[in-house]
Amino acid sequence: MRFPNSFLDEIRDRVPISQVIGTRVTFDRRKTNASRGDYWACCPFHGEKSPSFHCEDRKGRYHCFGCGVSGDHFRFLSELDGISFPEAVERIADMAGVPMPQRDPQAERREQKRASLSEVMEMAAGYFQSMLQEQQGAEARAYLRSRGLSSATQQSFRIGYAPSSRNALKEFLAGKGVGKDQIEACGLVVFGPDIPVSYDRFRDRIMFPIEDARGRVIAFGGRAMSKDVPAKYLNSPDTELFHKGTVLYNLARARRVSAKGDTVIAVEGYMDVIGLAQAGFENAVAPLGTALTENQLELLWRMTGEPVLCFDGDEAGLRAAWRAADLALPVVQPGRSLRFALLPEGKDPDDLVREEGPDAFAAVLSGARPLADMLWMRETSGKVFDTPERRAELERNLQALTAQIRDENLKRHYSQDMRERARTFFGGEQSKRGGQRGYRDGGGGGGRNRGFSGRPGGASGRLAVSESLARSALVRSSKPAMPLREATLLVTLVNHPGLLDEYFDALDQMLLASADLGRLRMSLLDAVAHNPAHDRDMILKKIEDDGLVGIWKQAEARVKGAYMWPALENAALDDAREAFAQTLYLHRRAGSLHKELKAAELALANDWNEEDARHLTEIQAELSNLQATEALIEGFGLLSGRANRS
Ligand code: UTP
Ligand code: MN
Repeated sequence: MRFPNSFLDEIRDRVPISQVIGTRVTFDRRKTNASRGDYWACCPFHGEKSPSFHCEDRKGRYHCFGCGVSGDHFRFLSELDGISFPEAVERIADMAGVPMPQRDPQAERREQKRASLSEVMEMAAGYFQSMLQEQQGAEARAYLRSRGLSSATQQSFRIGYAPSSRNALKEFLAGKGVGKDQIEACGLVVFGPDIPVSYDRFRDRIMFPIEDARGRVIAFGGRAMSKDVPAKYLNSPDTELFHKGTVLYNLARARRVSAKGDTVIAVEGYMDVIGLAQAGFENAVAPLGTALTENQLELLWRMTGEPVLCFDGDEAGLRAAWRAADLALPVVQPGRSLRFALLPEGKDPDDLVREEGPDAFAAVLSGARPLADMLWMRETSGKVFDTPERRAELERNLQALTAQIRDENLKRHYSQDMRERARTFFGGEQSKRGGQRGYRDGGGGGGRNRGFSGRPGGASGRLAVSESLARSALVRSSKPAMPLREATLLVTLVNHPGLLDEYFDALDQMLLASADLGRLRMSLLDAVAHNPAHDRDMILKKIEDDGLVGIWKQAEARVKGAYMWPALENAALDDAREAFAQTLYLHRRAGSLHKELKAAELALANDWNEEDARHLTEIQAELSNLQATEALIEGFGLLSGRANRS
């Protein structure tokens, strides 16, 4: 008989795999870390003297690095003892104290029906795939190419095309002998009492098959080709096979990858998952057009203890992140939490890897923040705590948050952590920890000045950063991308040496936060000093001689990625000059604002008074404005920058 998956899952959940394996092997005490559920032994499948057989309770899998065997609870017993799969199930069910399921004819019929629906979905997926290669799919093929998807990627995600027809799929399936009921039960047609003739649900759409955890097609997402269709994406309705809130796109593949030790990343869209996979991140999944559900969190936690949720760095993205944080808070446990990564504003992961390459996304990932940071940031950002009442209110809010955590042990640690944050926040002098957590750079970046981290400093400690600043610190946390403004300045000068006479002094006095770009600046200054003719090739040669080609390429890519076309070689000199002047202005203004900010903070630290506090707020506001201008420029390139100027 076939066992229902839920039954097998229940057994696997109840019995740690180490318990099954421990009945047949002795674990190596030195290598094993039982408290983490991480076990090593000499492999029982091949003779060996030092342990290369590994099993992990969290994943419920074993793997031998010597002979390559791997599997789950049932596989282990059946292969080692040479028994059948059902026998292995029975033995482990016994260990788990789970009764074997009764033969249930009704359930078996349901399983059978599901199996047949599954076949129909498989046929539909094949049909869409083949249509993509037909004449009718030409436009869709061109579109996919324009989105940069290789044909290998298209095939591995089984991307297809639903032609612009009301009955193409219906007729194809009918021709294969599939009944009307089945087609309807699969959600492939729109039907109903007031619809005389059912018709294909997906028309003129790029089709993304959605698979279950075992890689069987259970639904589709369809992206409209034409712009004037109401829904950009259309998903299959819930069916016997498919329940939206309990599925994650790309789960099967991500699970395979995560079993090798990678984390799992949750992103927003199909295209993000696919774009990331093509860029080498095969461990991304996405919910299907809805906010993450508790059930989906559960799926993530089955793969990894600390999945990374990735959100857009805009308002909506931040809201979605808060929602996920609230959802998770009651159910987090030791070893079961989340990290949050925020993308640069206006980019989804797919854009980011395409425009700036895998490293840019890796940097976003490495800047991911723990749940506690996110919560702290939400409670403090954009707020002023200048009265005892307001400080008490913060404390109360933090307590209310912490109280939601069900795990008692973790709850205790959280409240300790939050108290400590508040203490550091309000009484900066006591803090000798350097970077304050939660609203600057998480202390991860070695205290390097990164231009826009502008936090009103430790000592006064009564004003929180504005939300946009806090967010930008979060977005740019840890390993920031090369600062765009600074890269633009240098790239413009290299590409347009005609500007060097005019701006030599500016270059000479330029303060750069990026050490890499600082070296590039020195090289450029040197080149100019030895080469009065200011020839681009000559400068590039000097950069090469100084071993800075990598940095130069990176700077150029940064500028290109942000559409700073006036900085590029083929832009007209006048455009380059205008853009350079504007960027230089912003750069200097930011620099002096930061100085003012520091001075104001110091003044406040010595003597807190309302006037200085207001001044500080004004500086913050201007900084934040400046940053908004830059974000705008970054989003639209300097095209729109021109109109902005005075
Ligand atoms: P996005 O609009 O961000 O789409 O929606 P995308 O995946 O980045 O696709 P491209 O880049 O525009 O081609 C994110 C996800 O929200 C769901 C889909 O699951 C989509 O992948 N969605 C979006 C819908 O279900 N319906 C819609 O109309 C739009
Ligand atoms: Mn997108």
